[in-house]
Amino acid sequence: MDSQPKLKILFTKEEIEAAVKRLAAEIKEDYQSKYPLLIGVLKGSFMFMADLIRQLDFPLEVEFIRASSYGRGRESSGKIKVVQSLRSPVKGRDVLVIEDIVDTGLTTGFLLDYLRKKKPASLKLCALTDKPSRRQAPVTIDYLGFTVPNKFLVGYGLDLDEKFRNLPDICFLEEGS
Ligand code: IMP
Ligand code: MG
Repeated sequence: MDSQPKLKILFTKEEIEAAVKRLAAEIKEDYQSKYPLLIGVLKGSFMFMADLIRQLDFPLEVEFIRASSYGRGRESSGKIKVVQSLRSPVKGRDVLVIEDIVDTGLTTGFLLDYLRKKKPASLKLCALTDKPSRRQAPVTIDYLGFTVPNKFLVGYGLDLDEKFRNLPDICFLEEGS
């Protein structure tokens, strides 16, 4: 195992909790009578999804989808495919995609195109974090938690080589680590 990188907190669990509550209020306003299908993008969104839906006190369904894109470490391979697909039909549903982070936008853009082809009644995106400085493909984020700097983030579901997903705060790796 590599030597432990140095982690600094970017958002505390309290700040994340406040952002999740704010997003839930916005989502409730728009979806409470729509019986939406929330689709979490694995693996990174699992913690955000779990906290978000506990704040949504109206009927909804939860699904997960998984795309492979990231190589090991910090760089995306750029080649994306769906490796775990959906069981619920998307056609005619009000779909809200739940992402941990929009970085280059390649994965999210690919997944939104993939879902759009299945003819949902509506398709929107909720992302906990947005790293606009890295964008390669345009992506519209309808519900956003935080805009983040161009640093590699871990914690609250986000990983580096599968580590650090369990941290309750969102942290960044210090330069050189
Ligand atoms: P994309 O570059 O927008 O396609 O991002 C694809 C995926 O890479 C995201 O959904 C995350 O799972 C992962 N990713 C991107 N940036 C980070 C980061 O800073 N930390 C951890 N994972 C990241
Ligand atoms: Mg992700």
